Amino acid sequence: MQYDVKNIKLAQAGKKKIEWAEQFMGVLNIVKKDFNKTKPLKGIKVAACLHVTAETANLMRTLKAGGADIRLCASNPLSTQDDVAAALVKEYKIPTFAIKGESNSVYYNHLNAVLDFKPNVTMDDGADLVTLVHTKRKDLVKNLIGGTEETTTGVNRLKIMEKGVLQHPVIAVNEAKTKHLFDNRYGTGQSTLDGIMRATNVLLSGLKVVVAGYGWCGKGVALRASGLGAKVIVTEIDPIRALEALMDGFEVMPMSEAAAEGDLFITVTGAKHVISVPDFRRMKSGSIVCNAGHFDVELDIAGLKKIAIKVSDERPQVKKYFISKDKYIFVLADGRLVNLGAAEGHPAAVMDMSFANQALGAQFLVQHRKKLSNKVYPVPEEVDKRIAMLKLMSMNVKINRQSAVQRKYGQSWTEGT
Ligand code: NAI
Repeated sequence: MQYDVKNIKLAQAGKKKIEWAEQFMGVLNIVKKDFNKTKPLKGIKVAACLHVTAETANLMRTLKAGGADIRLCASNPLSTQDDVAAALVKEYKIPTFAIKGESNSVYYNHLNAVLDFKPNVTMDDGADLVTLVHTKRKDLVKNLIGGTEETTTGVNRLKIMEKGVLQHPVIAVNEAKTKHLFDNRYGTGQSTLDGIMRATNVLLSGLKVVVAGYGWCGKGVALRASGLGAKVIVTEIDPIRALEALMDGFEVMPMSEAAAEGDLFITVTGAKHVISVPDFRRMKSGSIVCNAGHFDVELDIAGLKKIAIKVSDERPQVKKYFISKDKYIFVLADGRLVNLGAAEGHPAAVMDMSFANQALGAQFLVQHRKKLSNKVYPVPEEVDKRIAMLKLMSMNVKINRQSAVQRKYGQSWTEGT
């Protein structure tokens, strides 16, 4: 069902939130201005499956300015901001199918609802729309020019599909440097800790924080946790990333050892059952466990439920699982993305670059529709560099230009020291 706006005050609050975010989205605002003039998406139907946040609302407004006809649903049952959904429907007339805390079946009803309007472009965060199109909604492939994908887990799924399954091109927004170097690292780093602090109000200083996964997100989470005074332990499966974590100054050990050491656990791997039942059993009583990876599979919550003798709700987004009479573990946001479930997700200033990539990625798909094949394409380098330049400009930061002497030197292999 489309978001039902009976509560006008909720929609007005959502509009304020969207306008607040807009002022930090300088690059997207430039793209919107340009889209308004040139209408590159005129007549294009876009089905978007993204976290329904204030920043996403500004992306939707940008696509609309470009002439697109849009429908939006959530990419996670817990990440919707209801006030933003209300404002999108009421104030901006953008059909939005999402409600915070929706069940899994409602979540899929909403995905199907946005697909029912036979999109030309899909915009995913986690590849759920593309997966649905390639399994239960194959009839829709004929209308599709292609898709864009926001996150690491989605790109990983698409790269598996690329080997013979994928029926249209996809632009991997996550591969852009102006996306993963900033959104995954600084966005997830800050907002994950924000979610943990809002849910628990715990003091990070002095805690032992175990970060599972030292990819772009894990690096950000570890950096920010240590900045707040936590002692960080990293777990990894990749020897190079483990070495990086070690040389960045963190302890590295397997989860089987870290489980007994940590006070707070954060998974950001994109993998399944990174914290399993034996790990939960090893943890100290009162340990706090959460996930910031895309799907809610990183913690074995089903396994934890099986061994729990009692479960209680302690605060919003905090559940207490008693493993024995006097040993318990706190799980935040039911193991779903803690930064979106317990806080507002990434700050607008970083989503600015991610969503400029989304908007320009959709434009690229439409402009090059005849030349692209059924592959996963990176965002073109010139687009990536332009977004970085515009971001610097919007922050009033100037950089050097290469001089003629430097250009000549850089292109020569004979000019010595
Ligand atoms: P990445 O691929 O750069 O890093 C993942 C790391 O986890 C790799 O270094 C890998 O070796 C490690 N890993 C895999 N299995 C492991 C295991 N069993 N134990 C320990 N480490 C393991 O990916 P990135 O960009 O850091 O993304 C991680 C996850 O976060 C993905 O699911 C991604 O979609 C999601 N994500 C979440 C965001 C949020 O808002 N919460 C924002 C951006 C990405």
